[in-house]
Amino acid sequence: MTLLNIINFPDLSDERGGLVAIETGKDIPFKVERVYFIHSTQTGVSRGFHAHKKLKQIAFCVKGSCEFILDDGKKRETLALDNPCKGLLIESMIWREMRNFTDDCVLMVIASEHFSESDYIRDYDQFVSLAT
Ligand code: TYD
Repeated sequence: MTLLNIINFPDLSDERGGLVAIETGKDIPFKVERVYFIHSTQTGVSRGFHAHKKLKQIAFCVKGSCEFILDDGKKRETLALDNPCKGLLIESMIWREMRNFTDDCVLMVIASEHFSESDYIRDYDQFVSLAT
């Protein structure tokens, strides 16, 4: 089973430009508790390098693109996220790394929980031993 679960959000674009709508309870398979975004990522920077015990997230590149690597402790899969209508669902206990951010990339993330450092697993070996 693939780790790359894409949710397609309605593309309401018309001749004037783009519009994407995200509705809770309809398109999102969890209760939304937090939204954050990553922007102005410096050239060559990679981010992530962690998993979450409980948190689920959906990541969108609302502008530009970046690459996601997802890892369940047994396999790694890579995806270029480059379409604002496509959200990448990241379940709990999935290691993620993000890289190759374009200069204009705005990565928006919708999350199922408030921020909690105790939910993070930042050590890859520890992640693998918990996940497998
Ligand atoms: P982190 O999730 O480690 O970033 P990334 O995985 O993209 O490299 O977050 C970076 C820092 O910001 C870390 O100290 C935690 C803090 N942070 C918050 O306080 N609230 C948040 O909602 C997020 C996502 C991060």
